[in-house]
Amino acid sequence: MFDIPFLDLPPLRSASGSVRLPGSKSISNRVLLLAGLAAGETVLLDLLDSDDTRVMLAALRTLGCGVVQSERECRITGLGGTLRVHEAQLFLGNAGTAMRPLAATLAVLAATQGGRFDLAGVPRMHERPIGDLVDALRPLGCDIVDLGRPGYPPLRVQGQAGGTLAGLEAGRPIRVRGDVSSQFLTALLLALPLVAAERDVVIEVDGELISKPYVDITLNLLGRFGIAVQRDGYRRFTLPAGSRYRSPGRLHVEGDASSASYFVALGAIAAAGGAPVHIAGVGSDSIQGDIAFVDAARAMGAAVQSGPGWIEVHRGRWPLQALDIDANHIPDAAMTLAVMALYADGPTRIRGIASWRVKETDRIAAMAAELRKLGAEVTAGDDFIEVRPPAHWQAASIHTYDDHRMAMCLALAAFNPLAANAGAGGAGVPVRIEDPRCVGKTFPDYFEALFGVASAAEADVPVITIDGPTASGKGTLAAAVAQALGYHLLDSGLLYRATGLAAAEDGVSPDDEAAVAQLAAQLDLRFAGAEAGDADDASEPRAAATPSFGDTAFDDSTPPRPPAEPTRVWLRGRDVSAELRHERTGLLASRVSALPAVRQALHGLQLSFRRAPGLVADGRDMGTVVFPRAALKVFLTADAARRAERRHKQLISKGIQASIDSLRADLEARDARDRNRAVAPLKPAEDALLLDNSDLTIEQSVAQVLSWWQARCPFTRSAEASSKA
Ligand code: DC
Repeated sequence: MFDIPFLDLPPLRSASGSVRLPGSKSISNRVLLLAGLAAGETVLLDLLDSDDTRVMLAALRTLGCGVVQSERECRITGLGGTLRVHEAQLFLGNAGTAMRPLAATLAVLAATQGGRFDLAGVPRMHERPIGDLVDALRPLGCDIVDLGRPGYPPLRVQGQAGGTLAGLEAGRPIRVRGDVSSQFLTALLLALPLVAAERDVVIEVDGELISKPYVDITLNLLGRFGIAVQRDGYRRFTLPAGSRYRSPGRLHVEGDASSASYFVALGAIAAAGGAPVHIAGVGSDSIQGDIAFVDAARAMGAAVQSGPGWIEVHRGRWPLQALDIDANHIPDAAMTLAVMALYADGPTRIRGIASWRVKETDRIAAMAAELRKLGAEVTAGDDFIEVRPPAHWQAASIHTYDDHRMAMCLALAAFNPLAANAGAGGAGVPVRIEDPRCVGKTFPDYFEALFGVASAAEADVPVITIDGPTASGKGTLAAAVAQALGYHLLDSGLLYRATGLAAAEDGVSPDDEAAVAQLAAQLDLRFAGAEAGDADDASEPRAAATPSFGDTAFDDSTPPRPPAEPTRVWLRGRDVSAELRHERTGLLASRVSALPAVRQALHGLQLSFRRAPGLVADGRDMGTVVFPRAALKVFLTADAARRAERRHKQLISKGIQASIDSLRADLEARDARDRNRAVAPLKPAEDALLLDNSDLTIEQSVAQVLSWWQARCPFTRSAEASSKA
């Protein structure tokens, strides 16, 4: 997961391959609550692991439910309808799917069993209305206190043990408005079976119910937990007397249909000619309303096939067909249509989306502002948005408003080179996504999944090279810059080290140029680091590292990078992560790296690290030979005295005695050797920027490189975005 202030997407040109979707957010949080209320154990499979489910799980734990999680399973032991904890403060982040149902559930439980529960969230949660739900619960006899602005969280729900719900006893139907958010009705449907043991409970909806498919999910899942709701259209719902939650035992959570929309759109835009985009986890058997997005995408030109649990998409009509569509039934996925509209043959109008205004952010305003930055012409009203594709695409820094869907769907703007009106020869513009981490709300690995299926032209993928003399700290700096930008990292020294190890393993002399070069050309290397789990992905070279500022390993030869949570490296299926760091491996590397044929043999492998979104390459010839056209080249220097001091400190911390003077003499001798060696001598590229870090901390060096990089990026930030930053 990227933990960075922004992520720059280079222009992207094609897509194909397979993605597996994370579990549905709507299903996950509903079944978590149902399992928490039912008696006994429920095993949930493929539950979504994201910000929104984490706050729900934390709330269930606080309330005394048993929660045991493993990789694919989550076991919940429920309350069986009886409160175990009678006072709690629950923090629910920005999860509407946790706030609304928990407020209703705890209001009803507190009113009948006694208790006091405070429910709060992030500031945006406190701007999202809940008044219609409170207005439905109060006449019933629930005691709900506004802790902030009336009608908005935070709330307190409370009551005395042995209390009654007078409204319920009078047999009056419970009335709830349905035209602001369907989550209020869902909250009541999930909570009221708790008090429907002895009598029918009737809920009536005032006004036209929006987002009906989400209520269908609620009804479907209630059915799985033994509650058979009777209904009259979407106006009147009856929980029959005797209703009681019964755990289904095991329940599989299907993939998120709203998350699928980005990859359906991706296929429609960018899977042309080659293999389609295959989406695993959700398909024709889905119970989620957003699966209907597929029909809208088809209407715009997507060629879609699907079956149970899968969807496959490739480009059909191109450019996409402009649409005028009522998207009331697919409010979340409709955001993806607004971005597909950038690639259409005319203006696309999306109607029936008033609910966008009360979501994670005011999505109508947000979408209009960000699409305009890209060059689109946008008209927005209370409940619609109309998007006309850009006549001239502009590189834009997309503000994401702490809204996962803004980040995920706007990323599709990076395919602008494919647009019919892409400007000069389809050169394309990059797209910056601010605060990319916000995707953690529902799809923590979204960008990894996107880069797994999207491709850029090699020349479009930015490269930053970092070089410098021994003990200059270049490895630490390169790893930190890569992490800050969310880029891949190529630690080229590591490839020479691995070659040296392979030679030693095969009993090949490190000076036997032809034999070592042959080993280098067939190096069977696999990497997994920050992207752990990719270890099985043998064909994809990656050297991603998570650096640590705490560990200022300025020594760049012993031990080598990466410092903190290291990249794990397998050579011929054997984990050699530790061995690669040995001093003797460094010596082997230094010998094999002096052989021109070996350098040549590793050339292609080094180039293959250049993949979207970008690359930071560290090593002596990165800026001169391997990536001569790199967008930014940095040459680190530090005077020998300071480097000797740093190395001395490091050795002392390991309990190794050394003299600063002799360390300095060694470094100076090595500098001279490196500068004068015939093969790949150490010298700055002509266009490299020199960074003397003698008196800089690693943080300061990173900040300097990032500021050079920012100055070379074409993005103009919006006034609003920079004032927030
Ligand atoms: O940076 P390092 O200590 O891991 O590098 C190991 C050896 O490989 C070192 O002697 C320098 C050499 N090297 C090279 O010749 N060219 C590179 N691009 C990277 C490292």
